[in-house]
This record gives sequence, structure tokens and C-alpha cells, in this order.
Amino acid sequence: MAGSRVILITGASSGIGQAAALAFARRGERVAAAARRMDCLQALRESARTLPGAILPLAADVTRASDMEEAVRQVVAEWGRLDVLVANAGIGHRGPLVDADWIDLETVLHTNIDGVLHSVRAAIPAIRAGGRGGHILLISSISAAAPAPYAAVYGASKSFVNGLARALRGELRRDHIAVTAMLIGQTRTEFAEHRLGQTGRVAGWLPTMTAERVADRIVWASTRQRRALTLRLIDRAFLLAAALTPGWLDRLQEAVYRPRR
Ligand SMILES: NC(=O)c1ccc[n+]([C@@H]2O[C@H](COP(=O)([O-])OP(=O)(O)OC[C@H]3O[C@@H](n4cnc5c(N)ncnc54)[C@H](OP(=O)(O)O)[C@@H]3O)[C@@H](O)[C@H]2O)c1
Repeated sequence: MAGSRVILITGASSGIGQAAALAFARRGERVAAAARRMDCLQALRESARTLPGAILPLAADVTRASDMEEAVRQVVAEWGRLDVLVANAGIGHRGPLVDADWIDLETVLHTNIDGVLHSVRAAIPAIRAGGRGGHILLISSISAAAPAPYAAVYGASKSFVNGLARALRGELRRDHIAVTAMLIGQTRTEFAEHRLGQTGRVAGWLPTMTAERVADRIVWASTRQRRALTLRLIDRAFLLAAALTPGWLDRLQEAVYRPRR
């Protein structure tokens, strides 16, 4: 295990982040699992005891730059390096923009934008210091390509993540640090319950995938040089519709996501 990579995953207490932590640990990698719910992270460490890798639970709120700097400091203190960041922590919001509580919208912005920036800005110096290159995987959404009505701020926050991935790629190329935007489609996790505004799945008829499937692709992508990754045919079809028939997709999304009165 001494030669295995060191991975930092934000939002590892549930869903995709938790599944990714286990998937990396199964390969013998050392995983720093960060989130606010420490009890879930301790349980994650227990469930990984028999795996070849290791899990280090870290209490960190991505909305605080100092938490992310401290998390990276602890990772380097424990394992001497950092190779991969999976910036995964995120939260949704659904509901008409003007009716939304500002505090909810602000939480989405602080988590999905500031949180990714704090994670990336804390991780880059540590990955650079290793001198071996590395990888930053930003967990985005297919909705970034066509933010849905009544989920405007969430979709726009993921468009920010895509833009950030693109720009950072150029900034980090010389350091041999790859940057990949993961364009995730509907996945069965606690996301819909944690969503602010209206909770619960809206397009429940759309096929969902498991967090384990997404996690396997995150692990796969962490060893490749892909700019962006979409997992399923249906998600690729969505991206194609966003590019080729945006007017039709707008009307479809409007009909699907309009709140029922
Ligand atoms: N599920 C989907 O259909 C779907 C689709 C596309 C993209 N995504 C993206 O996938 C990512 C993971 O979501 P998920 O589906 O796995 O949902 P989830 O089960 O709700 O997980 C969200 C994770 O983010 C963490 N988190 C939230 N706010 C945080 C904060 N301020 N500081 C630190 N951690 C925070 C949560 O941990 P704590 O509460 O313990 O802090 C939790 O571990 C998100 O970025 C989401 O936008 C999900």
C-alpha cells in the first residue's frame, strides 16, 4: 500500500462520494474521506476495514476555505502526499427562482461553487509539491449543458464547474495534473432528500444508475486523461439534444419540471 495513490474525496459521507471511497480502497488506494457528518465517515472506515486500501475520515465543510486547507494538511501529515482530488460535495435546489429562500440559493452557491474552489485551491499546492503530477476530478452534472427550469441555480452552479474544469486544465497541464469533468446523470443516492426547496425525484420515470456504477467510472477516469466523461447513452442523448435541438429540449424540460399546483 505504501506506493498506492493518495486520494481526497469531498462529500464522502453518502452517495457517490461514499461509493467512490470504497471503490478506490478496493484497489488498495489510500482515501481521505471528507464531509460534515463524521459518524457516517467513521462507519465508512469500519466498512472498509477488510479492503486492501485505507480510509481516513476528515471532518470538513467545503464552504470554509480553512477547513479544506486543514483537510489537505492532515492528508499530507498522514500519508506524505496527495495525488488525486475528487471534488464531489454538492447539493441541489428545486423550485421557482423568485419564490426560493435566498438562504437556500446561497447554500447551493456556497457548496457547489465556493466549495469546489476551496477544495481545488487547497489541493493543487499539495499535488504540485509531490512533483509526480496528479488528477482533479470535478463532479458535475449533465444538467450543466442545459440547466432545467425550476432548478436554475443548481444547473448554473454545475455549468460553473464545467467552465472551471476547462480553464484549470490549461493552468495545470505543465504540472501534469489532469482535470476531468464528470457529467453525471440521475443516480440513486440521498441527493433528492438533501435537496433544498422541493425534495423528492421529479422525473422519477427516468432511469437512474447506482452510485457504485458512477464510482467505478470515477476510478477509471482517475487513470485516464479525459477532458469530460458521460456515463450512459441516455445522458449522451441529452447532451446531443442540448446542442442540436435546444428549443425542443427547453419545452420538454419546462413540461417535466413545472411544479404541480
Ligand atoms: N444523484 C444524482 O442524481 C446526481 C446527478 C448529477 C450530479 N450529481 C452530483 O454528485 C455529487 C454527489 O451527490 P450525491 O448524489 O452523492 O448526493 P448525496 O448522497 O446527497 O451526497 C452529497 C454529499 O455532499 C456532502 N456535502 C454537502 N454539503 C457539504 C458541505 N458544506 N461540506 C462538505 N460536504 C458537503 C454531503 O456530506 P455531509 O452532509 O456529511 O457534509 C454528502 O456526502 C454532487 O455534486 C451532485 O451535484 C448527483
